Amino acid sequence: MSKKIVVIGGGAAGMMAAISAAGQETAVTLLEPNERLGKKLNITGKGRCNVTNNCDLDTMLQNVPCNGKFLYSALSRFTTQDTMAFFERLGVPLKTERGNRVFPVSDRAFDVSAALERELRRLHVRTVRDRACRILRDNAGVTGVQGEKERYEADAVVLATGGLSYPGTGSTGDGYRMAAELGHTIVEPRGSLVPLVSDDACCREMQGLSLKNVELTVNNGKGKVIFREFGEMLFTHFGVSGPLVLSASAHMRRWDRETYSLIIDLKPALDQQKLEARILRDIADAPNKDFDKIVAGLVHRSMVNVILDRLEISGELKAHSVTKEQRRRLCTLLKGFALSVTGPRPVAEAIVTSGGVRVGEVQPSTMASRLVPGLYFAGEILDVDAYTGGFNLQIAWATGRLAGLSAKQDGECKKVKKERIYSIAIDGPSGAGKSTLAKAVAAQRNILYVDTGAIYRTIGYHVFRKGIDPARVPEVIAVLPEIHVDMVYSEDGLQHMLLNGEDVTDEIRLPQISMYASAVSAIAEVRAFLLDMQRDLARRRSVIMDGRDIGTVVLPDADVKIYLTADVEKRAQRRLKELEQRGTPRPYDEVLREMQERDWADSHREIAPLRQAEDAVLVDTSDLNFEESREALLAVIRRRLGEE
Ligand code: DC
Repeated sequence: MSKKIVVIGGGAAGMMAAISAAGQETAVTLLEPNERLGKKLNITGKGRCNVTNNCDLDTMLQNVPCNGKFLYSALSRFTTQDTMAFFERLGVPLKTERGNRVFPVSDRAFDVSAALERELRRLHVRTVRDRACRILRDNAGVTGVQGEKERYEADAVVLATGGLSYPGTGSTGDGYRMAAELGHTIVEPRGSLVPLVSDDACCREMQGLSLKNVELTVNNGKGKVIFREFGEMLFTHFGVSGPLVLSASAHMRRWDRETYSLIIDLKPALDQQKLEARILRDIADAPNKDFDKIVAGLVHRSMVNVILDRLEISGELKAHSVTKEQRRRLCTLLKGFALSVTGPRPVAEAIVTSGGVRVGEVQPSTMASRLVPGLYFAGEILDVDAYTGGFNLQIAWATGRLAGLSAKQDGECKKVKKERIYSIAIDGPSGAGKSTLAKAVAAQRNILYVDTGAIYRTIGYHVFRKGIDPARVPEVIAVLPEIHVDMVYSEDGLQHMLLNGEDVTDEIRLPQISMYASAVSAIAEVRAFLLDMQRDLARRRSVIMDGRDIGTVVLPDADVKIYLTADVEKRAQRRLKELEQRGTPRPYDEVLREMQERDWADSHREIAPLRQAEDAVLVDTSDLNFEESREALLAVIRRRLGEE
């Protein structure tokens, strides 16, 4: 019986995934609500379709500012040269233009999508005009896709619905919703390659003006140059747009906490000195002309008044009366016309969406979901995006290719599907080695590690930063509504803590935060505030979770419960060693006393005190080294899960 694969989304990534998944052993269905496949593909590159960029892997990766590392595998297995060979093979001759941008020789994007459609037909991919509503799953993994018209059975599903940009082409955000329903985290989508808004009235005054051959520089709030390129831009009623601005916008990624300014060099071919000489010559040639005529000889006429306003010079001033200082200021302005920008235009106006399915939850070597067996991702739905120049489409081809091949080849898929979802709870005092051991177990068993102490530390850190005494319970409770804690996983699978969007992973490890965490964790409201979040993490995937009350309160039904402990002196010695390695040594007595105090506080608080659950297995690591402890833990887990 052939393996059933459903690809959701008939864009660049989806078509490539379907083509790659097709074969004798597979039955591939491609779902696309639009009448035509590749609708967005047909309008990219101004209808010419910038298929890829003819560059090497390093250059490719340098042009992926967001999660490039995650794409390493996909992009090295299907390189830009592979893309070119692929399309040439499909009968689309290509040419390379300025900046190594690759286009069809015909300059018709339509030829690219038509070739893909032909290939889909040749490979007997069943293309269905239907909108996917939901991905169906059971405990073991995906089972199918519910469409508006039909239900499709599937052993594997590739989700390739694109992002939110260009809604007219069918990008609706449905894919995000379907991924989120299966437990995936969606990094909030926003536009990348998007026009920019300015509140400077001059934009409106110059709207419609297109500047060619200018150099655009973007500075961040600290005055650091984050982008500089030469090209074409446009003034609009809301601000600025055009190729140069779209490219620049991909570098302006932190609107929430950063300010950016644009500097336009209107005369990049002339240095300051040459430009001054040119102005002087213009004036000498026509000393009786009004100054505005001189300026009009240097910039487009719709810019003249804006320039004069900025210089605070009357246009009627005679050229010969212009002072050296005024000439110099004109020159400086032409070389550095500054424009403040307040933010990007809405995501719907963006060419590319940044944000999407968090890549830490996707396996880079296969594009498989780490959470749901049989689910794969391709293209813009992933939280990756690149600069302009054919790089975004290359990402679509490469991830589509990898997702399709993996969906087809992954014998693993079926095997994984038989695995059940389980949870392992590890509780114990600090310093018993919970986190190091849990991490090792998670890596070995390929499941998620959740460090719940870090969540309490994040709350503790907020309280610390606010200058609140954690013993003042009502004050701590009062700040809870302003706290939003997120736990996310980076591409290497490491847990990061976000406090109102700010990554505080390192800060929460400061020594003084331990006591704050301990104090806030004794407050019932704080625990209630965090309970759902912790439970939710274990609902849809196998986890190993460590803390103080995991086996007793958070996951009372955990499949395996372990109480991990060691003598307090041993734990203090280990902690001491850790501090020394970090270069922050402290006296042993002090470390021991703090540890005893924290043990006491954590186990004597009224709410969810640290204690061994009745059905937990006790593992004492006082006399065990790391390997021995890990083996002890793994043995308990195997036994409890009935694997031996
Ligand atoms: O494991 P840790 O040292 O990072 O935890 C910090 C504090 O958070 C610790 O003093 C106790 C508290 N905590 C808790 O009360 N319940 C948990 N599940 C995890 C930690």
